[in-house]
Amino acid sequence: MKHKVVIGFRLPDDVEREFSARLDARFVDGAWPRRDATALAALLYGCGGIVVTPPIHADEWLFEHLPASVRVVGTYSVGLDHVDLVAAKKHGIAVVNTPDVLTDAVAETALLLLLGAARRATESIALIRSGQWQGWTPRQIIGQSLAGRTLGIYGMGRIGRGIAARARAFGMTIAYHNTRRLAPALEEGAAYYDTPEALLPVCDALVLACPLTAATRGFLNAGRIALMKPTAIVVNIARGDVVVDDDLIAALKEGRLFAAGLDVFSGEPRLDARYYDFPNLFILPHIGSSTIEARLAMGRAVIDGVIAVLDGGNPGE
Ligand code: DGY
Repeated sequence: MKHKVVIGFRLPDDVEREFSARLDARFVDGAWPRRDATALAALLYGCGGIVVTPPIHADEWLFEHLPASVRVVGTYSVGLDHVDLVAAKKHGIAVVNTPDVLTDAVAETALLLLLGAARRATESIALIRSGQWQGWTPRQIIGQSLAGRTLGIYGMGRIGRGIAARARAFGMTIAYHNTRRLAPALEEGAAYYDTPEALLPVCDALVLACPLTAATRGFLNAGRIALMKPTAIVVNIARGDVVVDDDLIAALKEGRLFAAGLDVFSGEPRLDARYYDFPNLFILPHIGSSTIEARLAMGRAVIDGVIAVLDGGNPGE
């Protein structure tokens, strides 16, 4: 018999088909019942698992109100910042996520942001779409090349290393900070800086690729931006709250950075309106893992993890 699982959002058709082939899957097509115990109980009646995604916070309240039948919470994401792991443990509920399978997609998005910011894509697109372009001139929209520059990576997990591999192909030198120094085989020649303060001054571009934790929340603030070159680029593919928006906005406004590329921002989906003012901001709506390959693989990872728990094994076994 298939395990009954509620998925809190719609997925691409092929992914929903895979869920339905292996689970008794019900997809919520509308709002998730936030803080509504009666609606939640009705939705999850008889369920063994639920699947959330970053906009659905699996917080203490949710864990407290899950029916006793629920033994696993899957999240259709690598990020776990929206899941209260302490509450999950307290309530004896397993958590599974989707590491590994979206590394390529997110690393590719980081390069898209880096190139978009360095080559002034926002201004270029606006100009060509305005119908006002007067033709090529040697002075038009001059950007920066990535080749020969140093890319600093803050957070050298799988995604950070995926970004490093791609940036090397563009001729960049890699520097990084991570909570732990990597083994030489994983470093692949990248220079390790044991503090962010040591890393920031050498960066021509900085990519934030860390998880959002208590330690990384608000990491990129005015003090740290002041350590960076005024010609530097900041890219965020991690979580919006790793950056202090007020400080990044002030730096862009005062020309203390060349440009920024953001796939994530605080308070998603509502972008701080001041960001719209900056032609040197290349911004995307959190599409880091949005490839069909990653979406399918994320689905399989969640399905496997949920079934492993409900069959009585451990996720990943
Ligand atoms: C992830 O998997 O964490 C992506 O950012 C989607 O939220």
